[in-house]
Amino acid sequence: MTHAVTRFPEGFLWGAATAAHQIEGNNTNSDWWRKEHDDAAGIKEPSLDACDSYHRWQEDMDLLAGLGFTDYRFSIEWARIEPAPGHFSRAELAHYRRMVEGALERGLRPMVTLHHFTVPRWFEDRGGWTAEGAVELFERYVTATAPVIGKGVEHVCTINEPNMISVIAGLAKSGEHGFPPAGLPTPDEDTTRAVVAAHHAARAAVKAINPSIRVGWSVANQVYQSLPGAEDVTAAYRYPREDVFIEAARDDDWIGVQSYTRTRIGADGPIPAPGDAERTLTEWEYYPAAVGHALRHTADIVGDVPLIVTENGIATADDARRVDYYTGALAEVAAALEDGLDIRGYLAWSALDNYEWGSYAPTFGLISVDPETFARTPKPSAHWLGGLGRTRELPRAAG
Ligand code: BGC
Repeated sequence: MTHAVTRFPEGFLWGAATAAHQIEGNNTNSDWWRKEHDDAAGIKEPSLDACDSYHRWQEDMDLLAGLGFTDYRFSIEWARIEPAPGHFSRAELAHYRRMVEGALERGLRPMVTLHHFTVPRWFEDRGGWTAEGAVELFERYVTATAPVIGKGVEHVCTINEPNMISVIAGLAKSGEHGFPPAGLPTPDEDTTRAVVAAHHAARAAVKAINPSIRVGWSVANQVYQSLPGAEDVTAAYRYPREDVFIEAARDDDWIGVQSYTRTRIGADGPIPAPGDAERTLTEWEYYPAAVGHALRHTADIVGDVPLIVTENGIATADDARRVDYYTGALAEVAAALEDGLDIRGYLAWSALDNYEWGSYAPTFGLISVDPETFARTPKPSAHWLGGLGRTRELPRAAG
């Protein structure tokens, strides 16, 4: 490494990310809400009010802008916007439009995710992603979001972590309960085909709304690392869980890279992290270098499609570990930039301690939220990370 500091490239996105269901509260028309209240689903706790961001989004944005961030990735909720098939709520569209304008007024560039894991109940009832006409229904919803994204939104993410959607569908089909001790369940191929088609249809629909919007999707990258001799096993394992989704972004304006930890693969498949490895509150191995590997692997597949880190972070109750994690992760981003990767932004996961798909226990937030009063308190990591937005300099690896 040759320079004392790595400066953000021109226009670099610097922000934090959230998802509607995880922060808004009372997303009652969604498939997840139903699941949370179904005893058979075995969900630890329901989302209920979440962070009440449906009402408190202005406070969230005030905090993020005040901390020094220049970008905010949030999702809009299909289950609210289209509560019944073909019926679009003008009030909800106006709500999300106010959020876009509210972000712009505060100097936060909004990145809008159109789908982040939750679907309307009626969409699930008719068979979800693999039912006939599902892609067209998603496309129709995307077209209906024109009043939200039509002006002032430079980046739209169509579908968050399509590979996880496919993995969860595969798990449901297999009849197994829960994830294996290491690695991911086998994705459902029909779901993969459907979400890839939905992404491509959505991309065209967004361009039809406003051709200058830069469209992409964000892929969960598990940083599969091969043990010596297991390279072929690793490649075969990774392809349906990751690479097929990255390949589908080859004609996109950018691709979102999301990583948290790594998965090592031996001759017989994934192997759990060693017993003495540091683990986070999600039980994932503490591995800040993940993002560097994820960026490089993605670039190998997409060639010159620009990369944006759309999520990266750690669930921990020890905020000093969060700063340490981000320091390590950003050194990887800096090194990748120095090596010439076209990285256009970094969005931390997550702005707030939020509903982590079944439990509030894993705290990923830069800002804590009191579950009773909803009072927000930025953690030291929030001040530190946001502050880098003012210096526009990335921390570098020691030595
Ligand atoms: C998702 C988020 C989630 C985070 C941490 C990603 O899989 O996009 O919704 O909270 O990782 O698990």
